[in-house]
Amino acid sequence: MSIQLIQQYYTAVEKIIHYSGSRNEGSLRKPFQDLLEQYARSKNLLLVSEVEMVSRKGNRIRPDGVFKDALRQDWGYWESKDEKDVLDDEIATKIAKGYPTFNILFEDTHNAVLYQGGEEIMRAAFTDASALDRLLTRFVSYQPAEVVEFRKAIELFSAEVGGLADTLRRVITEQLADNPQFKTALDEFLELARKAINPNIEMADVREMIIQHVLTEDIFMRVFDEAEFHRENIIARKLQEVAGTFYHGETKRNIHARVAPYYETINAKASQISDHHEKQKFLKALYGSFYKAYNPKAADRLGIVYTPDEIVRFMIESADHLLDKHFGKTLGDKGVEILDPATGTGTFITELIEYLPAQQLEYKYEHEIHCNEVAILPYYIANLNIEYTYKQKTGKFKEFENICFVDTLDNMGFEHTGKQLNFFGLTDANAERIVRQNSKPIMVVIGNPPYNAWQENFNNQNANRVYREIDRRIKETYIKQGRAQKQMAVYDMFTRFLRWASDRVGKDGMIAFVSNNSFIDSRAYDGFRKVISQEFNEIYIVDLKGNARTSGERRKREGGNVFHDDIKVGVAIYFMVRMNNKKGCRIYYNAIDDFAISEDKRSYLRDNRMGDISFSHLRPDSKFNWLNTTGNNWDELLPIIDKDVKAGLKGNAIFEKFSRGAETTRDEWVYDFNEDNLIKKINFFINIFNQDVIELKGLSESDASRKLNKEIKWSSSLVPMLLRGKSILLNNEKIFPCLYRPYVKTNIYFDTGLIHRLGVNPEFFPTPESENRLIIFNGRNSVYWTTFASKYLLDLNALYGGAQCIALYRYTNNGRVENITEWALSQFQKHYKDKKITKEDIFHYVYAVLHHPAYRVKYEINLKREFPRIPFYEDFWKWADWGRRLMDLHINYESVPAYPLERMDLVAEETRKALSTRLLARKEAGDIEVDTFTTLKGVPAEAWEYRLGTYSALEWVLERYKEKKPKDPTIAEKFNTYRFKDYKEQVIDLLGRVCAVSVETMKIVKEMGEAE
Ligand SMILES: C[S@@+](CC[C@H](N)C(=O)[O-])C[C@H]1O[C@@H](n2cnc3c(N)ncnc32)[C@H](O)[C@@H]1O
Repeated sequence: MSIQLIQQYYTAVEKIIHYSGSRNEGSLRKPFQDLLEQYARSKNLLLVSEVEMVSRKGNRIRPDGVFKDALRQDWGYWESKDEKDVLDDEIATKIAKGYPTFNILFEDTHNAVLYQGGEEIMRAAFTDASALDRLLTRFVSYQPAEVVEFRKAIELFSAEVGGLADTLRRVITEQLADNPQFKTALDEFLELARKAINPNIEMADVREMIIQHVLTEDIFMRVFDEAEFHRENIIARKLQEVAGTFYHGETKRNIHARVAPYYETINAKASQISDHHEKQKFLKALYGSFYKAYNPKAADRLGIVYTPDEIVRFMIESADHLLDKHFGKTLGDKGVEILDPATGTGTFITELIEYLPAQQLEYKYEHEIHCNEVAILPYYIANLNIEYTYKQKTGKFKEFENICFVDTLDNMGFEHTGKQLNFFGLTDANAERIVRQNSKPIMVVIGNPPYNAWQENFNNQNANRVYREIDRRIKETYIKQGRAQKQMAVYDMFTRFLRWASDRVGKDGMIAFVSNNSFIDSRAYDGFRKVISQEFNEIYIVDLKGNARTSGERRKREGGNVFHDDIKVGVAIYFMVRMNNKKGCRIYYNAIDDFAISEDKRSYLRDNRMGDISFSHLRPDSKFNWLNTTGNNWDELLPIIDKDVKAGLKGNAIFEKFSRGAETTRDEWVYDFNEDNLIKKINFFINIFNQDVIELKGLSESDASRKLNKEIKWSSSLVPMLLRGKSILLNNEKIFPCLYRPYVKTNIYFDTGLIHRLGVNPEFFPTPESENRLIIFNGRNSVYWTTFASKYLLDLNALYGGAQCIALYRYTNNGRVENITEWALSQFQKHYKDKKITKEDIFHYVYAVLHHPAYRVKYEINLKREFPRIPFYEDFWKWADWGRRLMDLHINYESVPAYPLERMDLVAEETRKALSTRLLARKEAGDIEVDTFTTLKGVPAEAWEYRLGTYSALEWVLERYKEKKPKDPTIAEKFNTYRFKDYKEQVIDLLGRVCAVSVETMKIVKEMGEAE
């Protein structure tokens, strides 16, 4: 659990011995008790001292400590002995006396002995920190057999839940067709839901609600003994009416027969355990697995993922701390109204109930704790959890009337007049609750709003719906103040919730959200950062890292994800405090250690209080960067490209047009080293596509999408073509030479339809023979920055973050023109007072500067965030000349004389037979193992230094010529013709040339460094 805790224990013991001069049981018991308490806390257990009890033999016994849960059940015992006693004798005596042995720890401050299930299972010396940690972890993690079995039953159920929901879905579709009473009831309910919940609700959403309703009925009744829930809860009652029109008789019996066995096992196990926390885990599993299995898109859109307890507890304690610090109030005080706007299973509210002092709870529960949820299953679960937790703590049941079934983001009625909440005339209890909530001044908004935790690909057609009002507020604040290009990203679910919450809390108040950590440093969020630092006076960020969409060293540093490694985005906890009488904003930042695993991150939150964490004070720069501010002269340099210049709106950048590399979305189809194979693939693809154009003619988008022939790879740009009835013609003229990766040339079929996005590339290369030169560098927000050049078209993913290309020429209707602005020419000629400078010279100057080591170091952070800017160095012609030499080398790498590598071929006949490809770089030895037969020797060390991101130029070649199994099933089955042996001699030749290019490049780069 935490070796650190044990180290702290050692320190405490040493101190006591030093101060008291003794080490008897009495004086050393306290630090060990503290240590046990910390371990117990992680399992929601409390260590209670010296409770008298009757042993199984009828004796009165008094262990030194008992672990108890919230239901006062015993989970384990601790017995501390003096070091003068013989521990094993003492253990024997205690056991003989009838001390319970299902989970008991004996220790004498030298050794610890753990008994579980009546037997000694582990022993550890106190001096062995890791053994002691293991022993204590086992001690507090003890699980009674019934809990273990209950968990197994849940796992089985979770695996099955998707199938169950599918059955229900089928039944509902049948019923809609055959049962008019059901159809009418469903239509009426839809109407009501649109009025009371959200005008955009569709029939599919209502169907979902019914499925979730039916699915929960049995669970609540059997597992939770909540037979009345569906009759009493205000929303469930309505859904019960609708469900009642079809879910009875045979239909109900049939479905029931399928689900009953699962419920029965779960129920049987559940009846043996009374701990509600355990049962809550079941509900959480149901919440996550139901959505993920049955409706992954909804899971993504709604951000269905429950929040680990450690995060929730930390946020509540911290919110309390900040309230006290800034307003002299606590969460329990009257007048502090608290709202969770996206409550899920209600974790924040239940934790709050457990956290608040008992005497303040009743009033808060009735009046000042609020929450919202928009999906029916979590809404029900939250109701159950909240009411149960309250009952457990106070001993009485009380309906929780402050939970609303509502789309929080659509509910702007509290202030904005744009949309009237037309609840009047409707006697809907839920609508009344919403109106009541809206009349409350909210001081604390706390929770885990959704943020598309799994959305990896925009093409998965799961873009969030539009929220007109809230999006307008985002536009007039975060977007208006931002300068970044890709501002669409700002209409993220989290930003919407933050915008909503910022408008919702009063002049004195705070927001505590856990969310994606990219808002701290993402470029697109510059306006967002600016505005929140204007709208709040103190911002605290605890950055828990864990971004899994990174690679290499950075990925390792990100460590595990605090959400039990269940999500891929990096995570941060944000606290934002607004104070009426304060001006300005202070931003405080704390980041968890690099490499920390998921469990360590939760321990960190468990073991640290907000007041103890050391935060660093961030000072934003003029562009609203909070982290990695640069403090250099970047803004004074010449912009290399600019989107307004590209659009023809202004002229002050060096180049006019720029383009991302070719974005195919189907690399395996449109690239091939072998032209004949490429044509075969394209032919096959086009035939299938054209066939579908005919067969699916006239169908709606959703019907057509379902019936697409999946033998080929579809994409969001290809489906609309099909719907427009546009067929594709094979055109051999569209085969272009292309750099797929640095120094790896292949063929691409470059035409609309097969290529997802062509970019501006057709202006750079209108035909396969068009002459041009490209300078290439990474897209923004890349983990590394590098540059190279090409005389061929380029693939988008030739570099990490998407390759950006700037060309020397553009081809227009009037022929070839230079792609460099007049503005740039005059800037250079004026600065150097030299009219002889041409646009081509500037092109070369730029290329040289981008290679300059000092430039790359000085502007490292800027280059990762923005398009490059170019300084004027002293001797223009020297730089232009370096640039010309580098450009020549890089674009003509195929004809540069090869570096004299020594080729070693084995002669043994057996080796020749068992030939297998290697393509391995052995840098230290200076070797390249081509295959089991051939090795190239004598690669100079500096050749490996010519790096283009993760690989050196040589390694790019080695990597790309390896044989790989295609991912696309059709390609794998029909067109997997690439064999390294067919290219072996070509690759050996290429390696020699790329080696020469590398050595020569490093020579020029070194000259630049020495000239500084
Ligand atoms: C990340 S989860 C909250 C998890 C919760 N803290 C827990 O541990 O169970 C987000 C929840 O917000 C709900 N939600 C998403 N969009 C919403 C909206 N616009 N209004 C209200 N609730 C919403 C989702 O259904 C989901 O249950």
